[in-house]
Amino acid sequence: MGKALDGVRILDFTHVQSGPTCTQLLAWFGADVIKVERAGAGDITREQLRDIPDVDSLYFTMLNHNKRSVTIDTKNPEGKQVLEALIQTCDVLVENFAPGALDRMGFTWERIQELNPRMIVASVKGFGPGPYEDCKVYENVAQCAGGAASTTGFDDGPPVVTGAQIGDSGTGLHLALGIVTALFQRTQTGRGQRVLAAMQDGVLNLCRVKLRDQQRLERTGMMKEYPQYPNGEFGEAVPRAGNASGGGQPGWILKCKGWETDPNAYIYFITQAPVWAKICNVIGKEEWATDPDYATPAARLPRLKDIFAEIERWTMTKTKFEAMQILNKYDIPCGPILSMKEIAEEPSLRKTGTIVEVDHPTRGKYLTVGNPIKLSDSPTEVRRSPLLGEHTDEVMAELGYSPEQIIALRTAGAI
Ligand SMILES: CC(C)(COP(=O)(O)OP(=O)(O)OC[C@H]1O[C@@H](n2cnc3c(N)ncnc32)[C@H](O)[C@@H]1OP(=O)(O)O)[C@@H](O)C(=O)NCCC(=O)NCCS
Repeated sequence: MGKALDGVRILDFTHVQSGPTCTQLLAWFGADVIKVERAGAGDITREQLRDIPDVDSLYFTMLNHNKRSVTIDTKNPEGKQVLEALIQTCDVLVENFAPGALDRMGFTWERIQELNPRMIVASVKGFGPGPYEDCKVYENVAQCAGGAASTTGFDDGPPVVTGAQIGDSGTGLHLALGIVTALFQRTQTGRGQRVLAAMQDGVLNLCRVKLRDQQRLERTGMMKEYPQYPNGEFGEAVPRAGNASGGGQPGWILKCKGWETDPNAYIYFITQAPVWAKICNVIGKEEWATDPDYATPAARLPRLKDIFAEIERWTMTKTKFEAMQILNKYDIPCGPILSMKEIAEEPSLRKTGTIVEVDHPTRGKYLTVGNPIKLSDSPTEVRRSPLLGEHTDEVMAELGYSPEQIIALRTAGAI
């Protein structure tokens, strides 16, 4: 079966996490992704957080599936010529170097346009234009600057970063959408364009509801669905809401059977208004369904702490999976806190290709997260990440270089 992005060639100048997430998605959709790496070293993540000596790390392998790897010294004059040939034959150049690095290499937007006016140049940067535009940025910097950290955690503790890589992988996802959109516009205009996804912007986009709350707070001085209501004090900025659901339907994380020894024996429980009577039945507090102190969402708001404590007395008698099964029968929204171990072993995720086992020539078998976006006419086959420079000769031959020229370039240190 064909793939959605068949025929699209990507010059992948990305490294670490944000850019590689983007180009991996495009590769899964069928694009030919040619990853350009520095000779000898390659993407720094190849050697970061290694679990097996001298073997590409899981950090690298899990972000670079379905790509080809070529090694080019882009600061060598002959290496530059090879890169120019690549620019002339690719549709998209994706990069996430520090600000200005591509220009310093000699590949300004104007130069790239001269070489290939149809080229789309897509970049991840830490910040958009402004006071911080020259800064190098990593995941947690973006989480902090994008509003996630100030709104995550508990009111009586410091800001907290989240384990979900919303700064890196989140921005890669934004960039991928920008690229396919630019490819679509090119079918009308015939021209390439620049695509920029700044990590601060990407995180803020995911924190959109918190900017909503900032304005609600400024207008009304409080927000009833926050745990600070009615006892706590609201300050000038959106406070950290602990595990409150934030969607207007009160929710909290509650202990389940085994919580004393299992750090993940918890369930997220939402006291959704339409199923309140069912919740009362399940936890054995039938009288709350009609008691005016508990019967309406407004009456419950000031009593949420006690209500969740009562519900927790029930959830603590069940495992999180038993609770899930019982609550779902009554359409009571809830979610078990799944550990990475449980997720890795979950058969249904293996079946859908969301968790995939991949074989690698030097590291052997490992698990990865497959393509989370499923297209019915463009199925994803997850192929292992390339070894450093594995496809240099192959790609050079495609560009028209003879075996002798390839040897000469290698001797010159250009590839
Ligand atoms: C991630 C980041 C902080 C890493 O910084 P870094 O390790 O110092 O790497 P840089 O991007 O500055 O690139 C280092 C140098 O390698 C050079 N280089 C890269 N590939 C090369 C190649 N194939 N041949 C020769 N030189 C190469 C670059 O030209 C640059 O040189 P310069 O500083 O002389 O201009 C930085 O790239 C960044 O801020 N990127 C944008 C935001 C981002 O994506 N952050 C999230 C990462 S998950």
